[in-house]
Amino acid sequence: KEKRIALLPGDGIGPEVVAEGVKVLKAIEQKDKNLSFTFEQFPWGCEYYLQNGKMMDDDGLSQLQHFDAIYLGAVGYPGVPDHVSLRDLLLKIRKGFDQYVNLRPVKLLNERLSPLKGKAAKDIDLLVVRENSEGEYSGEGNWLYKGEPEEVVLQTGVFSRKGTERIIRYAFEEARRQGKSLTSVSKANALNYSMVFWDSVFEEVKRDYPDVETASYLVDAASMFLVMNPERFDIVVTSNLFGDILTDLGAAIAGGLGLATGANVNPERTYPSMFEPVHGSAPDIAGKGIANPLAAIWSVAQMMDHFGEEEWGRKIVSTIQQIMDEDEKLTPDFGGEATTAEVGDRFIKLLTS
Ligand code: NAI
Ligand code: MG
Repeated sequence: KEKRIALLPGDGIGPEVVAEGVKVLKAIEQKDKNLSFTFEQFPWGCEYYLQNGKMMDDDGLSQLQHFDAIYLGAVGYPGVPDHVSLRDLLLKIRKGFDQYVNLRPVKLLNERLSPLKGKAAKDIDLLVVRENSEGEYSGEGNWLYKGEPEEVVLQTGVFSRKGTERIIRYAFEEARRQGKSLTSVSKANALNYSMVFWDSVFEEVKRDYPDVETASYLVDAASMFLVMNPERFDIVVTSNLFGDILTDLGAAIAGGLGLATGANVNPERTYPSMFEPVHGSAPDIAGKGIANPLAAIWSVAQMMDHFGEEEWGRKIVSTIQQIMDEDEKLTPDFGGEATTAEVGDRFIKLLTS
């Protein structure tokens, strides 16, 4: 099977960590005669913006359209406002390609890295399915009487029937496929339209999945449980804003940004999906060769899952686990002394041995 992968290394440490991910993909290709990857690299990002006045080409989406996956490093650069880099590249791709599912695994691989100790830490293993296209981040709203005493700001959450049902259904399918429970996180006691609607759609869709065990939590309680009793969670489905916050909390309890990955998925495969580490371009360490490549490598595991190569997906995650057990062979952010390339090389050695 040939898979075409668009590389968007971006800025700062983006290219440094994507290079390691590409090494992993090439190693997989070597090992697995049934798989081959072709790569095309795009220079888009903030440096491109500084030279060309735009983050990506005007016809960027049609250039990306025919790829099987997009592999993104990070975008962001001192001197370019973050809302420009985010809105004109990342959000354009997410929206343009209807990547309405954001998949963020939260799994602790080294107890030393978690602020949680003991039993709670051992039970951190969940998958957050975050709504990625509407909800609280719809961008709708109004700013009235600006600067006057009557000033009022409205920020509208948009929860469409289609948008709500498809994300919940996706999560049920995933729970069924993995044989795991599904938890819905909402806030119907305070958000009397949007979250009452969310809960009712959840109850409705649930009827089609009698085999899936479910729970439903308010987001404040869910945040507490995530820290106190993470074993309660397997698959979690939630809205755009709640998912954003819960996944950062998830990343924090699971060892920080160095391992956090996210897939932006268009499940219908009408458009390519995008795989990226959660971290940014880290200007403070860019160019030093010490960025942790493991989050970017985990993104490759998600890409393999998306390609239906779940054996490789599992293998990548268990190899990350192996590396995480070798404290001194990690990058400085995890307390080790290794460089980006050394972690990548070690990874490939373990993966292919
Ligand atoms: P950041 O994630 O780039 O860095 C936060 C801290 O974590 C820094 O101290 C950094 O050195 C460290 N860090 C991050 N990734 C690391 C890695 N792989 N290995 C070792 N250390 C790592 O977030 P920050 O500083 O808020 O943002 C920097 C730029 O990145 C901004 O322009 C921001 O807009 C952009 N950004 C882009 C994202 C994306 O492309 N998806 C996501 C988040 C931020
Ligand atoms: Mg976030």
